Amino acid sequence: MKFRLFSVVLALLIAGCGDSKPKRHYDAKALLHSKCESCHNLDMPPKTYPDEKAPPMMAVTFHVRDFMKVDNPSEKRRKFIEFVVDYALNPSEEKSFCDKKSLEDYGLMPSQKGEVTPEELEAIAGYMYDHYDPEKFMKLMQEQARLAALPAWQRVTEQKNCLGCHGLKEDKIAPAFARIAKRYGEAGKEALMKSIRNGSRGKWEGFKLAMPPFKDLDDDDLSAVAAWILEQGR
Ligand code: HEC
Ligand code: HEC
Repeated sequence: MKFRLFSVVLALLIAGCGDSKPKRHYDAKALLHSKCESCHNLDMPPKTYPDEKAPPMMAVTFHVRDFMKVDNPSEKRRKFIEFVVDYALNPSEEKSFCDKKSLEDYGLMPSQKGEVTPEELEAIAGYMYDHYDPEKFMKLMQEQARLAALPAWQRVTEQKNCLGCHGLKEDKIAPAFARIAKRYGEAGKEALMKSIRNGSRGKWEGFKLAMPPFKDLDDDDLSAVAAWILEQGR
């Protein structure tokens, strides 16, 4: 077993060597954030603000991808990168795919010459093309719609993987929800909400692990999930 694992690792290493290009490796995502986020919102789906300085990057990417003319679809990624590298260094009204109204609203993008190198831009543009992908976006929206349609307790337990540590009736690496319900009873809902938000340690004998805090859950979600845990005691 050990030997097999070793050969797999070795094979990967050798393959890795054969592939390696003399080109420098860039962390394209980090570059996009450090070089472009001051003006473009980078979220997918994007957030828009009333006083935003530039269109969200997802909109930019979809837009350029749609409007750019290419004879051969396999050229699309390369052409997209070429366009973005050139545009970020030498923007102009003629090159822009933005409609006139948006150009007036936002103003022309200032050249990023001196802020970012052509090689960095190449990496950023490749990442933009792959990350802001229409199919990926559709899947993301479907997943969000699916989660939004679930009862709150189910969405929370799924997103936070509560059942990765807790069993319903049986202890796993954390006490079973049924046992927690029995100890606290209906009157304990507030206490449970507090523990879920802030985490917990040392309250349950025999469990060495600490319960991590879930600070990003709002009161409605906490209340729903605590009520659901208490139902497991019945
Ligand atoms: C100082 C603000 C600012 C920064 C920083 C900035 N942009 Fe822009 N960008 C804009 C504005 C404003 C527009 C919309 C007007 C236009 O198209 O020129 C825009 C538009 C674009 C477009 C769309 C052009 C088109 O034809 O629709 C691309 C591509 C683009 N930016 C890429 C980048 C990349 C990549 C970076 C980071 C390296 C970046 N921008 C950083 C302000 C900025
Ligand atoms: C990484 C493992 C882990 C995950 C994930 C986890 N828990 Fe826990 N949980 C624990 C452990 C361990 C304890 C026991 C802590 C202690 O002894 O105080 C615990 C305790 C609890 C308690 C009882 C706290 C108390 O005050 O007695 C509740 C309620 C609880 N978890 C709910 C949840 C919910 C809801 C989720 C998902 C949002 C969750 N847990 C996710 C490990 C986990």
